[in-house]
Amino acid sequence: MIILDGKKTSNDLKEEIAAEVVKRKAEGKKTPHLAAILVGTDGASMTYVNSKVKACEKVGFNSTLIDLPEETTEEQLLHEIAELNNDKDIDGFIVQLPLPNHIDEQKVLMAIDPDKDVDGFHPVNVGKMTLDLPTFLPATPFGILELLKRYKVETSGKNVVVIGRSHIVGRPMSILMSQKREAGDATVTLTHSRTKNLSEITQKADIIVAALGKAEFLTGDMVKEGVTVIDVGITRVKDETKKRGYRLAGDVDFDSVAPKSEFITPVPGGVGPMTIAMLLKNTLLACEKVD
Ligand code: GUN
Repeated sequence: MIILDGKKTSNDLKEEIAAEVVKRKAEGKKTPHLAAILVGTDGASMTYVNSKVKACEKVGFNSTLIDLPEETTEEQLLHEIAELNNDKDIDGFIVQLPLPNHIDEQKVLMAIDPDKDVDGFHPVNVGKMTLDLPTFLPATPFGILELLKRYKVETSGKNVVVIGRSHIVGRPMSILMSQKREAGDATVTLTHSRTKNLSEITQKADIIVAALGKAEFLTGDMVKEGVTVIDVGITRVKDETKKRGYRLAGDVDFDSVAPKSEFITPVPGGVGPMTIAMLLKNTLLACEKVD
């Protein structure tokens, strides 16, 4: 069993990006600048956004955090987005999801300039991704592809089962891995909450991407020997034995699945750090586009 070490791989990527930034600065080129908008005080979202800002510092990017209260109206948020769209110094920005219920997520994502949409969530960028045209790939699927590539996990002709059809992970993952590309060329089955006999499907999988958001859902009896497992989940599970009162659990029951796996990602330290590294990569790409 080989651990797909997202922490180490993301650090390698960050070093590569930092070297690019040093080179850009020496050539008198612009320093990449990422902005993030956070609405409200959701604990997990605050943690993610802070990690993204901290990662910017680490690679030498400029970063701006726009922290808005829960009561922010849709109109106010759209105004902030317009400002970032028009700000020449900002190369890319993200609006952290989920948004409060009174804000229409689709409307917000559509307001972002596709050229600054480093999350790859704008319909124009989703369309380009689907058609295999150059664009910003959504950071989590992009990070999974990179992890598979760097560990030379064979995907061509393999049976890939994705669990979860979210717009952020499951659906783009299924599209990307079915495409003719590195870490692609797979036969992909996209499963979800209405899928019948899920176990029968996962037992035939060479590679499973678990992205449904249910702690320790995928268990050892659901997978075959030699499977590769990518765990996208990260849920806070109450745990009184921990100082902070919770532990972080993936969508995979690591203890029963790992012994049967050829490759497996841990939680934490697997997909999560890769997501952040790929967001930086997209920001660098956005900055290079305007050189
Ligand atoms: N919420 C969970 N994942 C993501 C992500 O990749 N980007 C944004 N903006 N919000 C998220």
